[in-house]
Amino acid sequence: MKTKVVIIGGGPSGLLLGQLLSRRGIDNIVLERRSKDYVLGRIRAGVLEQGFVQLMQEAGCADRLHAEGIVHDGTVLACGGTAFRIDFKQHTGSQVVVYGQTEVTRDLYDAREKTDGQTVFNVEDVTLHGVDTDAPHVRYSVDGVVHHVACAFIAGCDGFHGVSRKSIPRDVRKEYEKVYPFGWLGVLVEKPPVYHELIYANSPRGFALCSMRSETLSRYYIQCAVQDSVHDWSDAAFWQELKRRIPAPYADQLITGPSIEKSIAPMRSFVTEPMRWGRLFLCGDAAHIVPPTGAKGLNTAASDVHYLYQGLRAFYETGDQDGLARYSEKALGRVWKTQRFSWWLSSLMHRYPDQSEFDAKIQMAELEFLRSNRAAQKTMAQGYVGLPY
Ligand code: APR
Ligand code: PHB
Repeated sequence: MKTKVVIIGGGPSGLLLGQLLSRRGIDNIVLERRSKDYVLGRIRAGVLEQGFVQLMQEAGCADRLHAEGIVHDGTVLACGGTAFRIDFKQHTGSQVVVYGQTEVTRDLYDAREKTDGQTVFNVEDVTLHGVDTDAPHVRYSVDGVVHHVACAFIAGCDGFHGVSRKSIPRDVRKEYEKVYPFGWLGVLVEKPPVYHELIYANSPRGFALCSMRSETLSRYYIQCAVQDSVHDWSDAAFWQELKRRIPAPYADQLITGPSIEKSIAPMRSFVTEPMRWGRLFLCGDAAHIVPPTGAKGLNTAASDVHYLYQGLRAFYETGDQDGLARYSEKALGRVWKTQRFSWWLSSLMHRYPDQSEFDAKIQMAELEFLRSNRAAQKTMAQGYVGLPY
């Protein structure tokens, strides 16, 4: 088989890239290790930057997002029993849209099925060959039958545990990692959200976040110990702890119920450099991981896809290779700024087990500075709504 672009990974990165390329007539195939139902069963964050929304529009996949997404003009930060608001619209003229990643992925699959874009599920033993030549190819097997796909480019959209990053020679790759000393215990509940905007809370007992997926589906998180297991947390224990971490006016309004999903996510920052090796281009979680604090995982995958899509489009439409040549530099430039924002918000809002009394005083001073200083609020708002591509 032959195609222009082999996309490894049928998550948001791979699907968004595939849809954008297909709409420009750039032939591609998506190879996905799991089944479609498995991919759609993943529960992930749900705050979209305007850049992501615009890419979904360009991909022809934004109708449901516009119809069902909830536009947020700001967010609430709480500390010490009181709260203040960061007004995105006032500081940046921009907003974010609350719309679950599962729905994004569903919309992208629905759109791809209306095109002639080929998607192969349940692939195994994916290997990349000739990546540093002008004629790479990918091998994979399905049901024991080995397939060979000749291509011009390979997009590694296969997440942190995929094969693409590891296909870049170890002596070429430089990896950066920071592991945070806590995790996030998340609960999905079919109840109205406690407030119409998100609430990020720094309490003496640890971080908490009140989020949502719709007006009848809410998502809550509490910081937990790295060694915690979901089995350590009954629904009752979760609700009791969440109420102790958010200011009383919100806690008193909280509508609890049985969790329909409960999971613990580890917290880490990770970046690999370069994001390109020959004809292989890494996008999204294959290249970087952010702590979920700023909801930047999906949004940073989107900016990678934007840079790669523009580079491939220029190559095929005008022969210009500059976009592809500068892909890694441009993508990493925004990746590191987003890493900084996610690290900063995580450091501001979580209680660290080894936090000294001095550290705790600095954290409170940082929060008070943010509460009282317009320039500080503007800076946070710019980071939250997303830096320009
Ligand atoms: N071959 C084919 N597919 C693979 C392989 C492989 N060897 N390894 C992994 N995959 C698939 C996974 O099954 C998954 O569906 O690649 C896809 C990668 O998707 P994600 O992990 O969701 O990564 P990405 O598409 O970059 O999206 C980033 O997803 O994980 C969240 O927080 C992250 O919001 C961010 C977003
Ligand atoms: C979520 O709704 O899952 C969510 C929202 C905002 C975040 C992180 C997660 O910062």
